[in-house]
Amino acid sequence: MKQARIVGTGSYLPQRVLTNHDLSKMVETSDEWIVSRTGMKERRLAREDEYASSMGTEAARLALKDAGKSSEEIDFILVATLTPDYIFPSTACLIQQELGAKKAAALDLQAACSGYLYALSMAKALIESGISRNVLVIAAEKLSSITDYQDRSTCILFGDGAAAAVVSAEGSGLAIKTVHLGADGEQAELLMLPAGGCRKPASQESLEQRMHYIKMSGNEVFKHAVRRMQEAAKECLEASGVSEEELAWVIPHQANIRILDAIAKRFSHLPANRLYKTLEKYGNTSASSIGIALDEWRKEGLGKTGEKVLLTAFGGGFTWGAALLHYE
Ligand code: COA
Repeated sequence: MKQARIVGTGSYLPQRVLTNHDLSKMVETSDEWIVSRTGMKERRLAREDEYASSMGTEAARLALKDAGKSSEEIDFILVATLTPDYIFPSTACLIQQELGAKKAAALDLQAACSGYLYALSMAKALIESGISRNVLVIAAEKLSSITDYQDRSTCILFGDGAAAAVVSAEGSGLAIKTVHLGADGEQAELLMLPAGGCRKPASQESLEQRMHYIKMSGNEVFKHAVRRMQEAAKECLEASGVSEEELAWVIPHQANIRILDAIAKRFSHLPANRLYKTLEKYGNTSASSIGIALDEWRKEGLGKTGEKVLLTAFGGGFTWGAALLHYE
């Protein structure tokens, strides 16, 4: 059977930095509160003329270069985003055009912060079924466009950025062994963007009520995130026949340091630095967060041949997932 592998990665972070100190001038908060409750110190903000498509294109170019592939070799582009440039056309089509990936089909998918893992799962299926040979997985978020900088409980968390991976039927890299996904629409309203869709199109009222921004019940989401990410990790490992002790690295969605600490407890055999973190400098970049972390982890040369790596995510929907990768 064919084996899908990540053979190249890339990421893009906008240059502008938004520090906790900057936020403390915008809402009633403090560096001390944000660091102790979230672990975050800074996040990046896209310029006005930077979009999910332009950031995704930059990340994709770097991933293609890393993989040693041209855009013409790509036959499918999957873009995970909850901040697309437009409702339609898809951001994937805009990126396809920018890259000149003329032979590629292009599709957006939306699984909030679990989007990267959902896209990896689709890429694996496309490759291993023989439908595609080279799939470009991209996650790109301009969360600053839907963040309410008057709401101190959410604006401290989110940042902008993009990540990409070339998933291929040939070449060496990180073999995608198992991706385990889940969803539960029952708690959809705990984390959502209420207006702008067909249920509540933009109106004077929706603008006045600030309904085009992320609304979140932080406490509730926190509890679900811990539970679901731990369960997803366990179920993914069980499905793979791999024990927790065999893992060399865990690269989780960068939601909150306390959520990551709770996950770390499950993998108590791992030294603390083997749970890879970027949230201190980038905050929560939703679908992009695992992809950015994976790219930085690779570029730092931290992984070694033969090691097993677990990715785990949770997001609005609710959605969640975990993926087991083998470094080959
Ligand atoms: N600065 C200072 N005080 C703040 C604050 C801020 N930025 N944000 C909230 N507070 C206040 C609240 O108003 C509340 O005050 P009160 O007790 O007077 O009502 C108090 O801090 C405690 O609020 P609470 O919501 O219980 O804090 P918390 O410890 O749960 O932390 C989050 C809030 C948002 C950091 C935390 O719930 C969280 O990270 N949740 C998960 C979010 C997430 O990961 N979402 C994406 C999932 S993919």
